[in-house]
Amino acid sequence: MEINRRNFMKKATIAGLTTVAFTAPAASEPVTVQKSKKKSVPAPTDRIRTGFIGVGNRGQGHLRTCLAMSSADIVSICDISERSLSAAKKLISESNHPEPKVYTGNDFAYLEMLAKEDLDAVIISTPWEWHTRMAVASMKSGAYTGVEVPAATTLDECWDLVNTHEETGVNLMFLENANYDRSFLAILNMVRQDIFSELLHCRCGYLHDLRGVKFNDGIEYDYVPGHPLKFGKEAYAEAQWRGLHSIRRNGDVYPTHGIGPVAKALDINNGNRFLSLSSFATKARGLKKYVDDYGGANHPLAKIQWNCGDIVTSTINCANGETILVTHNCNNPRPHIGDFMVQGTKGLWHEDWKSIYVENQSPVKDAYEADEKWIEKFNHKYWREEGESAAGSGHGGIDYMVLNDFFKAVKENKPAPIDVYDAAAWSAISALSEMSISKGNAPVDFPDFTRGQWIKYRDEKTFASDDKFPMLADRFIKY
Ligand SMILES: NC(=O)c1ccc[n+]([C@@H]2O[C@H](COP(=O)([O-])OP(=O)(O)OC[C@H]3O[C@@H](n4cnc5c(N)ncnc54)[C@H](O)[C@@H]3O)[C@@H](O)[C@H]2O)c1
Repeated sequence: MEINRRNFMKKATIAGLTTVAFTAPAASEPVTVQKSKKKSVPAPTDRIRTGFIGVGNRGQGHLRTCLAMSSADIVSICDISERSLSAAKKLISESNHPEPKVYTGNDFAYLEMLAKEDLDAVIISTPWEWHTRMAVASMKSGAYTGVEVPAATTLDECWDLVNTHEETGVNLMFLENANYDRSFLAILNMVRQDIFSELLHCRCGYLHDLRGVKFNDGIEYDYVPGHPLKFGKEAYAEAQWRGLHSIRRNGDVYPTHGIGPVAKALDINNGNRFLSLSSFATKARGLKKYVDDYGGANHPLAKIQWNCGDIVTSTINCANGETILVTHNCNNPRPHIGDFMVQGTKGLWHEDWKSIYVENQSPVKDAYEADEKWIEKFNHKYWREEGESAAGSGHGGIDYMVLNDFFKAVKENKPAPIDVYDAAAWSAISALSEMSISKGNAPVDFPDFTRGQWIKYRDEKTFASDDKFPMLADRFIKY
């Protein structure tokens, strides 16, 4: 039986656990922080008491979206950067919202926030290496936890998330906004209506020139040629930390914007699962060339030895016989694409070409047609009902959609539409691709984070259910 947060808290109290202890994952971390209060799930009419950990660029984006929504109160914020905190406070005061309590001063101030505040929900938008330990602590505090992408950087961290959810009964939603893309949700409706018949192969990825972001001096959001190149502690925002993952790792370090939508279309963890993966990496050239071009070959940053291949491609094998090709490339000049392609036995869709072909339905045999009419016809309920509210929010509206789903789930304390098992399976691609590359591209097995539960349809209605386009009862044999 799924233990919900209220049950867990009740059990914890009955068992005499009136405080929740946080164990210290590092020497410099306080040994324990006692949680002072207990609370129940918010009543349906209650506003959601929300805390933020990390209010840099992404956290401020979430704040803006939250401030425009009516469901959440921003009770507290936590960050270690004065610059981020003052930008966040400014956003909040300009919206005439009450001032939040601020937690800062050291890397573990978030533990104090979780212990002292009576939070219904926590949104985590920090550097990747912090996500898991913050999410674990947040679940242990009893708060419905929303964590940015990726959720974890190692397989152990993936298991930490799953184990904590199972031990506490507290939900975690993986805030993968790409799953709410209007075109992809229409394609999901089409998949569920069998327009492409049985799926065979999908392609996806994250191909986005982030060289500027990795050397940003903080004057402009992106690096502008002519400004000094900055990296690490002296730099701004992601330039402080993102590039370190390209020095110390070699794999697909950011797979979930691509794999998320495809995993939902393929029912991963819901009657299907990832079995194994093989990854290949090109040489690492883009970041070195960028420093040479804009800083000169004698620039101190020109000495950095980059480890992560510019282009990492991973092929995944699924239990139901599909394959997926996932690509990562953030270090070369190129337009930003998601590289989505969905191929079934009756047709296919290419996101980047905005093209579709459906046998016996497309007007010209063996020729693509524009996907526009199809996307319109199968427009998803989220966009039919919430499209207007989403307009103006980040990334073309998907930032509203993901938080809207999050707060709905928090309010009802229902399972997350993108849950901890999705977070673990999708994020595991990073660690597994590193393993495969280090073993000469050998296939490596995915852990089964559901411990066998993937075999059945656990929650087919949880993510993006659309009454107008239900899943076909006979699409697969269901038990
Ligand atoms: N889903 C999306 O579309 C999307 C877009 C951008 C970023 N992101 C993700 O959001 C996350 C944050 O990215 P960002 O662009 O905001 O980075 P950022 O560097 O601008 O912000 C990170 C913030 O975390 C703070 N921080 C670092 N360590 C901390 C700690 N121990 N305690 C509290 N605060 C701490 C930093 O001071 C900074 O303000 C990343 O995981 C990134 O991949 C997602």
